Amino acid sequence: MPKKMICAGNWKLNKGPKETKEFVAELKNAIPAEQISNFVLFVSPTNLQTLQNEWPEFSFGPQNIFWEDSGAFTGETSANVAKELGCSMALVGHSERRQIFSETNEQTAKKMKLASSHGLVPVICVGETLEQREAGETSQVICEQLEEALEGWNPNSKLWVAYEPVWAIGTGKVATPEQAEDAHKVLRKSLSSILGEEQSKSVPILYGGSVKPENAGELSLKENIDGFLIGGASLKVESFVGIFNESNQS
Ligand code: PGA
Repeated sequence: MPKKMICAGNWKLNKGPKETKEFVAELKNAIPAEQISNFVLFVSPTNLQTLQNEWPEFSFGPQNIFWEDSGAFTGETSANVAKELGCSMALVGHSERRQIFSETNEQTAKKMKLASSHGLVPVICVGETLEQREAGETSQVICEQLEEALEGWNPNSKLWVAYEPVWAIGTGKVATPEQAEDAHKVLRKSLSSILGEEQSKSVPILYGGSVKPENAGELSLKENIDGFLIGGASLKVESFVGIFNESNQS
């Protein structure tokens, strides 16, 4: 049976409640009800309530959470409040968090565990910079990010992984299907040594970085690519659903 590809949108710092409501109305008409489990949206905390009101059956979550539930942490988003707002997932360790906000692997590990303790499935993002790729360090960098984020992780807890080469994010430069598959294989192997082989097979590994309807079909043919984490192209229903349609043809 052909696999069903997951399409996860990462809106970053875009859209407010009004646009979220409009997007949801359009998306409801664009995807058959039985396929909603293949879609997820990661939005700003200010849009979570709107998603809960407009489409509680749809999977959504914040793009970041803090590693404590409450306290003197100005500006942070709490995992238990995200849960209260109907979230089922949370992005953790996105490269923009790492690069702009100096997040470390150790911090992502704490976030992973807290998200999971509240029943949110964390999506841990890993990826190398262009400099690291050119120096032949891709496998080492992404394995280190994954292994350190899974420090102390309960192997029976659910998680997803997103491989997002930094040089492909928002640049229009997509990884070739072979480059992406090579990285996904390395990550699957690393998951297997951390979680055990059986468990590692149940972890979806998404590819992210300039995914569009035009390149999704080819990428989706690769064995270890289970879906996509989509930035720019998730802001419009047409391209978001276009990616899903292109990647579920074969
Ligand atoms: P992009 O972003 O699709 O715009 O390259 C992907 C991401 O950052 O998750």
